[in-house]
Amino acid sequence: KNNGLILGIESSCDETAAAVVRAGGEALSNVVASQIVLHQDYGGVVPELAAREHLRNVVPVVRAAMEQSGVRFSDLDAVAVTEGPGLAGALQVGILYAKALAFGLGKPLIAVNHLEGHIHAVVMEARQRGDSAMELPLLALVVSGGHTHLYLASESGQTTWQYRNVGRTVDDAAGEAYDKVAKLLGLGYPGGPWLDGLAPFGDPKAVPFQFHAIQRREDDRRDADAGARFDFSFSGIKSAVLRYVKSEGMQEAAVARANAIAAHPGLKPADAASFCDPKALGLIASFQSAVVGVLMKQTFAAAEAFGARGVLVSGGVAANRELRRRFLAEGARRGLPVAFPSMALSTDNAAMIAAAAWPKFLAGEFASEGMSAAPQLRL
Ligand code: KG4
Ligand code: ZN
Repeated sequence: KNNGLILGIESSCDETAAAVVRAGGEALSNVVASQIVLHQDYGGVVPELAAREHLRNVVPVVRAAMEQSGVRFSDLDAVAVTEGPGLAGALQVGILYAKALAFGLGKPLIAVNHLEGHIHAVVMEARQRGDSAMELPLLALVVSGGHTHLYLASESGQTTWQYRNVGRTVDDAAGEAYDKVAKLLGLGYPGGPWLDGLAPFGDPKAVPFQFHAIQRREDDRRDADAGARFDFSFSGIKSAVLRYVKSEGMQEAAVARANAIAAHPGLKPADAASFCDPKALGLIASFQSAVVGVLMKQTFAAAEAFGARGVLVSGGVAANRELRRRFLAEGARRGLPVAFPSMALSTDNAAMIAAAAWPKFLAGEFASEGMSAAPQLRL
């Protein structure tokens, strides 16, 4: 018999996560063990440390997810795990554990693309709300620390969807730009929440960045033969921030800020405004306004070009408040529904992996015994 119960396991980057989801629409548990504290001192994820930490966390995290769900291992229908993209060593921990568990239980194993997982975070919550607004084709923006991709999701004739990549970053991911700029300004890691919290205190017109971001993107357009493309570039704006910081002599203030923030553990990003001069706040507001502007421009242009019936934004950067506000306003202006995951499901989690596995379970798309980590997996 089929209870529709899938255990999802995610370990592609710096979160060890497990969740039990029923029929791709109801999260019975969602446990995430974050390693942010571990990597903070390095200002980024250290792959070896991440893999070792996943190894330490995977058993307790899965156990907690099973206990919270009230589901017995024997009642599961399948085990789903992130196959890629991500860090090889980190992915392998989740995969080996999921394989052993599925084998031991005699249940099928389902391999999930992390990017499809981010998309299904939104689908799952829409199902949970009984919301049928998710009409295909959909234009999906997956925007995080590792990815900035645009996909056209459409019907495949199966229970699963098919995806066409219609845009991607030609250099840095948007979240990566957030992290680098925050570091440059002496703010905490990861940078997104800091810049998000501080941007409302600054003047978004203080530094004119739009030009750099758009200029680079047009220059770098690739795959011209593959039809209309809506690529992104964020390294230009990152360099422009660096130039501005140097030309305005803001480096010393950044070091002082980093020390002040380090001396106040538990400080909320918005409370760090008192450590920022108006120039720094203007820079932060202008940077965020430019990044969100570029994301919006390309996403809505692609939605229009492909006749999408809705826009979906997911991944860590989708937690950004200005991004949500401006995407919703633009969607309303165009009469196009725009959907986001809840804050908890914007960043990496395993509920989205279990949810994405559900249509694959229905289609009988199971992983082979030889499945292994695919760090560069594409969607
Ligand atoms: O999806 P995620 O947890 O992991 C990856 O797959 O990368 O995304 C993490 C990224 C980081 O770069 C972080 O700075 C960014 O998402 N982020 C944000 C916000 N919250 C997290 N960026 C902008 N605004 C936020 N509120
Ligand atoms: Zn992610």
